[in-house]
Amino acid sequence: MIDLNGKYELLIKTLRSKIPFYPELSIILGSGLGDFAEKLEIIKSIPTNELTGYPQSTVEGHKGFIHFAKYAEKKLLLFQGRIHFYEGYSLSEVFLPVHIAAKLNSQYLLLTNAAGGISKNLIPSDLMLDISFNSFAVKKEITEVIGIASVYEKHKFLDFPSKEFNAIIREAAALKQINLKEGVYWYTKGPSYETAAEIKMISKFGGDAVGMSTAHEAVYGAKLGMKVSAISCITNYATGLTAQKLSHIEVIETANKVKNNFENLVKKIIELL
Ligand code: HPA
Repeated sequence: MIDLNGKYELLIKTLRSKIPFYPELSIILGSGLGDFAEKLEIIKSIPTNELTGYPQSTVEGHKGFIHFAKYAEKKLLLFQGRIHFYEGYSLSEVFLPVHIAAKLNSQYLLLTNAAGGISKNLIPSDLMLDISFNSFAVKKEITEVIGIASVYEKHKFLDFPSKEFNAIIREAAALKQINLKEGVYWYTKGPSYETAAEIKMISKFGGDAVGMSTAHEAVYGAKLGMKVSAISCITNYATGLTAQKLSHIEVIETANKVKNNFENLVKKIIELL
């Protein structure tokens, strides 16, 4: 088992000496959703390249900042720039933002992502509450980080996504009259998008949306005792469902269009916490 407490001890110590407060909610911002941080009162921003040992995201639409911000008198920690497994980082590196959130005593962790819609119920620009995840593709790596017993026993003690946090998110969507869809988020390793045959299989197995992050972060966040929930921004139809070719540009463009709804929803969630 890899000891993340040991691996990141110094980094957490350095970070603690720089932070203006301990956050109540932490948010990892997905592809194209990073601008949300700028809609809040930013108290302090720390470029991740100032933190020795912090992996740098190499993906377009992912800036490397940790922001300490306030909204509705709540103390927030935002990660602008996600670290993906497909970039070649180990899962213990991918887990670092989640680890930081927990070590700074964040009670809640909101994971956000861009995802391809598979279910007929989903169209690009929809927001979807992730009601469950698969993480087959990285089971071995998750086990290495959080331990075999924890994975086998997860249904005994890991409540993720958090029922309590999901209820708050549903209430926020209702209050804002946002048609928040719900579905299963299916993780694929990437980095290339899926083939039409893979999407057909995932659909048969019960996946509603597909993406390259979040599922394993949710396991680790829950393992560290945070209330974890996740929201997907449906940026495109998954491969094979339309004639259109998939591109990262399309993902970013659609995420841009959903920004308003996303901002309204997440702000309401923060107010309700
Ligand atoms: N597949 C995987 N990841 C994604 C997609 C997709 O269709 N859209 C946005 N992220």
